[in-house]
Amino acid sequence: MQQGPIGVFDSGYGGLTVLREILGRLPGYDYLYLGDNARAPYGPRSFETVHRYTLEAVEWMFREGCPLVILACNTASAKALRTIQQRDLTRIAPDNRVLGVIRPTAEVIGHHTRTREVGVLGTTGTVRSGSYPIEIGRFFPDVVVHQQDCPMWVPLVEHRAYDNPGADHFIRDCLHRLMRRSASIDTILLACTHYPVLAPLIRRYLPEDVCILDQGGIVADRLADYLHRHPEMRSRLSYHPEGGGRRYCTTDDTDAFDEHACLFLGEEVRSEHVSLQA
Ligand code: DGL
Repeated sequence: MQQGPIGVFDSGYGGLTVLREILGRLPGYDYLYLGDNARAPYGPRSFETVHRYTLEAVEWMFREGCPLVILACNTASAKALRTIQQRDLTRIAPDNRVLGVIRPTAEVIGHHTRTREVGVLGTTGTVRSGSYPIEIGRFFPDVVVHQQDCPMWVPLVEHRAYDNPGADHFIRDCLHRLMRRSASIDTILLACTHYPVLAPLIRRYLPEDVCILDQGGIVADRLADYLHRHPEMRSRLSYHPEGGGRRYCTTDDTDAFDEHACLFLGEEVRSEHVSLQA
């Protein structure tokens, strides 16, 4: 049987914050990362567009040999994952699997809050989809979810424009809007995989006792658990005990990707430019 890499997908660089944690936890597998930088951000786009873009990316990763794809993007997980899992997969590759980042996060967030009030920061698409209140409500019906969208944050990260007073304004403004909703919020979820890059700036504007939760470690743990429970999928993944291979692909400029990705991952990256059309 042909074995293949684990695919990790995001609209741009954000998924690298998840991949970094996955590599630390499961270093032996081969990985293929795809950033659709040419079409980022996905956050303000319609359900239809996010579904179409995400499906194109997933189909491309399947053609490149990935039996398993992680949507390391909340917007794609909120707006496209269910349709891909329930409708598209049976048609395009019934034995392959696509997993998202929202459910694994919703499953654990209730263990982090004492006050039972949490804040969720995400893209406009993720917030409007209502996915987090719905999913968290399934696992922790007593937890109150306050949401705030942060439309400027992904562009700030994609363009590496977060280290200046202008960026500070947008970060402070969204945090104030969220914290005004309730003084009892004790846990804030960074429900966008781009946001961990902004964590030091976010920290500045929050009370010290508020916990900031990012998803990388949570998703890595859940992936390890998934692979443990699914030997049929494990057997389809290429694995090297001495350390697997990594391939980085972008739909936009490779020089910009390499420079930027290095900041996210802390290691040198040489990416390939790809076109997602079959
Ligand atoms: N990293 C994506 C997420 O987690 C960003 C989406 C975007 O491109 O706006 O939502």
